[in-house]
Amino acid sequence: MSKLIRHLMLVALLFLGGTAGAQSSGAASAPAPAAAPASTADVNVNKATVWRAVRDSGTVAGYSSLPGAEKGVLIQSQVQYPGSRRTTAGEAWRQVRNQWIIPYGGSLLLIIGLAIALFYWRKGALGGHEPDTGRMVERFTPLERAAHWANAIAFVVLAVSGLVMAFGKFVLLPVLGHTLFGWLTFVLKNAHNVAGPLFAVSLLIVIVTFARDNLPRAGDLGWLLKGGGLFGGQEVPSHRYNAGEKLVFWGGVFVLGLVVVASGLVLDDVVPGFSGLRGDMQIANMVHGTATVLMMAMFMGHIYIGTIGMKGAYDGMRTGYVDEAWAREHHQLWLDDIQAGKIPAQRSTPVATSAALPPNASTPA
Ligand code: HEM
Repeated sequence: MSKLIRHLMLVALLFLGGTAGAQSSGAASAPAPAAAPASTADVNVNKATVWRAVRDSGTVAGYSSLPGAEKGVLIQSQVQYPGSRRTTAGEAWRQVRNQWIIPYGGSLLLIIGLAIALFYWRKGALGGHEPDTGRMVERFTPLERAAHWANAIAFVVLAVSGLVMAFGKFVLLPVLGHTLFGWLTFVLKNAHNVAGPLFAVSLLIVIVTFARDNLPRAGDLGWLLKGGGLFGGQEVPSHRYNAGEKLVFWGGVFVLGLVVVASGLVLDDVVPGFSGLRGDMQIANMVHGTATVLMMAMFMGHIYIGTIGMKGAYDGMRTGYVDEAWAREHHQLWLDDIQAGKIPAQRSTPVATSAALPPNASTPA
C-alpha cells in the first residue's frame, strides 16, 4: 500500500516538476504546483514536456529514500559519461549500459566464441605430436591447483550468473516467461553474491602463487611476434609459461581481475568511502560491466586451451603432473631447466607415500 502511495507521489512530482520546468527558465528550479491536465491529449503532450524537463533539469528535490548526500534528491544532476549524451546521471548511465556495454559486449563475446569454434574446426586440438615418455614432472603444486580451481569455479558461476543478469532479458525471458526467468535470475543473483568473495580471495592467492613465473623474460617478445608458432605447427620454445599465458596473467588475472573485484565490492557497498550513492553505483556498474566482458573474452581463450584446445593441458592442472614429452613440446626451456637441475622436478613435498605421486614421477633434483 505504502509502495503504491510512493509511486503515486513520484508520478505526481514528475508531473508537477515537468510543468514547472517547462514554465520556468531555471534548469534546477524546484517543482511548483500546476493546473491538472484537462484531457488525455494534454496528458500525452505533457509527458514529452515532463521528460524533457527531467532531462534538462539539474538536481531536483523530491522524495528519495537514499542515505547521505542524496537524501531528498529525486533526480540526479547532469553528467556526461564516455559514450553518453550530457543528461541526468541515471539516464547517462542507462545510455552507456544499453547502447554500449550490452550490445558491443555481447557482440564481442559472440565473435570470440565464433573465432574459437572456427580455430578448433580448422586446427583441432594442439599438441600430442611427441609420444609420452612415462616420466612425469610436477607442473602445479596442490596449493596452486586448489587456488586455481577455486578461482575457476567461482569465475564460471560469476560469468554464467552475470551473463544471465545482463543478457537474459533479451535471450531467456522470451523463452522462459516472466515467472521462471524471475526465479532463475533471483537464484543466480544470490549465487553471484556468494561466488564473488570466493573469487576475490582465490584471485589474490592465484596472483601471489603464479606471479613469479609470469614475469617477463627474454624471448617473450619473439614468442608473441611469431604467435607462439601455434598457427604454424612448431611451437616456439618457452619457459614455464609462454608469453600468451603471461598476457592473460597480467592483463586478465591481475589488471582486469582486480578491477572486477574492486568494482564488485563497491557495488556490494562494502568499500569504505563509497556510501552506496547512485553516482558511485552507476560508475562502479559501468566499470564492472566493461571489465568483466573483457575478462570473459580473454578467459574464453584460456578455458578453450585449458580444455579441448590443447592435448594434455587439462590433465596437468587436474593431477599436477605432465609427461616430459608434453613439457618438451610446449615449454621446452622449462624442461631444459628441470633437466639441468635448476628447477626441482618435484616442488611440493610428496605426501606420505609414493601413492600420492603418479608412477614414474621424477624425483626431486
Ligand atoms: C573453467 C575454467 C578454467 C579452466 C578449465 C582452466 C584451465 C587451466 C589449465 C589447464 C591450466 C594449465 C596451463 C598450463 O599448463 O600452462 C591453467 C593455468 C592457469 N589458469 Fe586456468 N582455467 C580456468 C579458469 C581460470 C581462471 C578463472 C583464472 C584466473 C582468473 C585462471 C588462471 C590461471 C593461471 C594464472 C594459470 C597459470 C598460467 C598462467 O600463469 O598464465 N584460470 N588453467
